[in-house]
Amino acid sequence: MQRVGVFDQGVMEPATGRDLTTGRADFIERAQTRGELFIEQPYGLYSEANQQTWRRLYRALAGKWEQHAHPRFLDGVTRLALDPDRIPRLADINRFLEPLSGFRARAVSGYVPAYLFFDCLRRREFPTTITVRDGDRLDYLPEPDIFHDLAGHVPMHTDPAFAAVLVRFGEAARTAALRAQDGDCRRVESALKALARFFWFTIEFGLMRRPDGDGLCAYGSGLLSSAGEIGHALESPRVQRVPFQLDWVVNQSFEIDSLQPLLFVVSGFDHLEREVLRLERWLGDGRLDNVAPGEPAVCREDLQSFLQAGVDG
Ligand SMILES: [Fe+2]
Repeated sequence: MQRVGVFDQGVMEPATGRDLTTGRADFIERAQTRGELFIEQPYGLYSEANQQTWRRLYRALAGKWEQHAHPRFLDGVTRLALDPDRIPRLADINRFLEPLSGFRARAVSGYVPAYLFFDCLRRREFPTTITVRDGDRLDYLPEPDIFHDLAGHVPMHTDPAFAAVLVRFGEAARTAALRAQDGDCRRVESALKALARFFWFTIEFGLMRRPDGDGLCAYGSGLLSSAGEIGHALESPRVQRVPFQLDWVVNQSFEIDSLQPLLFVVSGFDHLEREVLRLERWLGDGRLDNVAPGEPAVCREDLQSFLQAGVDG
């Protein structure tokens, strides 16, 4: 997924392991070795190269946000007082965020098993990556980083209607987990695919009608944190943009390592909330026990997290 031409050319220092570069941070490796998922943000470890990466990403995205982001996302950027020049401290973000929607960003050391992730949303916590992507590959993102999580996701969390959708999503995952009490792995795998596909085509890559009715805008974090993806999503004639259809979404495979060729459009936050409620009903009544095979693959850890949640009740 090589995308060029949207970033200025920074002079980058090589990552040493002592900073917080994704995939190469000693601090993160040590936390993972100790089995610590929820961690502190060791702010002093961000190197000048990490800060420079944040600045370059912010500069590449800010103009595109003005052009393509949902107005409530732009409000969120202002309300969180996101700094274009410095990586935010989670504590500062939360001081602004919690009074607005009850949500807070919580630092994690890496991958959060699916059920645990969704259950955090139910409790208005957002698992947040604290490392910064490699400055040499700014628009390639095989895994989340702090720019994707804090600049891509969290501004939308300032909006109570959007926050309510995330909580409902966590409730839907809980409904699926309670149905997993009989230990039927195939059925749980199907429910997990449905949840992951819904999340992908809404929270990560969702498009919405503009509130003034004039065209489309982006509310999905995968679009809002990628300079290459956001313009492609809203301008390219190669992208198919279709009205949201739940039965299509839950059966639609997706790829994470190429520009998205198919995106779904909701009419507003109330529409999105109705669809997530419908998702929960469908999960509860068995309608999603046999969704189409294909991506995403369900890993053992994710499956186990749902089965265990079902046992725990
Ligand atoms: Fe994300």
